[in-house]
Amino acid sequence: METIVLDWLGLVLRWAHIIVGIAWIGSSFYFMWLDSHLEEPTVPDDDVEGQLWMVHSGGFYRVDKIMVAPKIMPRHLHWFKWEAWWTGVTGVLLLAVVYYLGSSAFLIDPDVAAITKLQAVGIGIGTLVVGWFLYDGIYMSGWGNKYTKISAAIGFFGLCVVAYGLSQVLSGRAAYIHVGALIGIIMVLNVWIRIIPGQYNLVNARKNGEEPDPSYGVRAKQRSVHNNYLTLPVVFVMISSHYPMTFGHQHSWAILIVLFIIGALVRHWFNLRNSGSNAIWPVPLAVIAIIMLAGYVSVPGFTGTEKKSLERKVVFSEVQAIIKTRCTTCHSASPTFEGIDKPPMNIKLETKAEIIKHATQIQKTAVAANSMPLGNATKMTKEERFVIGRWISSGMLSK
Ligand code: HEC
Repeated sequence: METIVLDWLGLVLRWAHIIVGIAWIGSSFYFMWLDSHLEEPTVPDDDVEGQLWMVHSGGFYRVDKIMVAPKIMPRHLHWFKWEAWWTGVTGVLLLAVVYYLGSSAFLIDPDVAAITKLQAVGIGIGTLVVGWFLYDGIYMSGWGNKYTKISAAIGFFGLCVVAYGLSQVLSGRAAYIHVGALIGIIMVLNVWIRIIPGQYNLVNARKNGEEPDPSYGVRAKQRSVHNNYLTLPVVFVMISSHYPMTFGHQHSWAILIVLFIIGALVRHWFNLRNSGSNAIWPVPLAVIAIIMLAGYVSVPGFTGTEKKSLERKVVFSEVQAIIKTRCTTCHSASPTFEGIDKPPMNIKLETKAEIIKHATQIQKTAVAANSMPLGNATKMTKEERFVIGRWISSGMLSK
């Protein structure tokens, strides 16, 4: 498809995805906040479990929480399910537009695995479909409900396997986004297939004067807990393409898992606070973990002997020759790479002035990480990265 069409489709979808995603996560944060601030009703009422008052946008709001279900159903009952639905729909379309219809360099990296774009698309979609069925299968079996700790551990282990496996076949960036897409799909389907039907069951049972089926409630609760802990990790994956030091690292999958644990820890702290606890231990733990991760990631991937063999003065003509063969197929006024018809992000690397202007970004993407060349489409070597790094760190003065 015309890249200009894809670019604009991508823009609209990304914009919409963020808007509906904010609505979804925002309303779920809001309900957690509501639940944790309920008080005794001001006028005693047996049906009201808790009540709270708020002031916002020029008016006062009183919320009553009624457990199980009201005796008389209101005319209009508002459900919160479309935010999740549209976040899922826009997300899947965005994935297809950027990674499946866009340039193959987003999806595959010949340094990682020699597969075709079609195979990569198959692996991506297959992971999303099989991943959901495995996840849902574990928790639908009586077993998953009975041994909650073991099944949570299995779920976490499964996530590590998916992250590792994808990092062995797709580009780092595409592996990250597919792990994120799998988590996102699990969260959306949890809402639609496992949580909302439970609420319908409750409402219908009340309407018919019957007792609701308790198994729905148990399942809905478990899936809500999963969604709760997955929220912060999935948001990181969505912004991860800005951080080449994560997905461009040789152990990208392990970095992703550590960031997930940090996200879940911070979320655990929210949960503790919402349940009235003042414990703050998850916060220092998360801070220490992120500092250690930063320290680990910033160690460049060159061994002592590799560095020794390259101990020499680097001249600009050498740097320019590397950039000409490895970068300008895409980063020039008229790119020649398949699927790229204008310089990406308007970054051109043809003249010395242009190279110096973007030196900091070049250092971040092509020296400290392997995220550029995109999907290492032009097969840049480790030595070449080192040479460019030396030239930049020496002040870029040599001719
Ligand atoms: C196969 C095409 C291709 C090649 C080759 C390529 N790039 Fe890129 N580059 C891209 C695309 C596409 C983007 C935009 C990525 C995005 O949309 O997130 C980009 C973005 C960038 C950015 C901005 C990224 C950011 O997050 O700030 C830098 C810097 C960059 N490239 C440097 C380089 C350097 C240096 C080389 C050569 C060593 C190179 N690129 C080779 C396609 C390429």
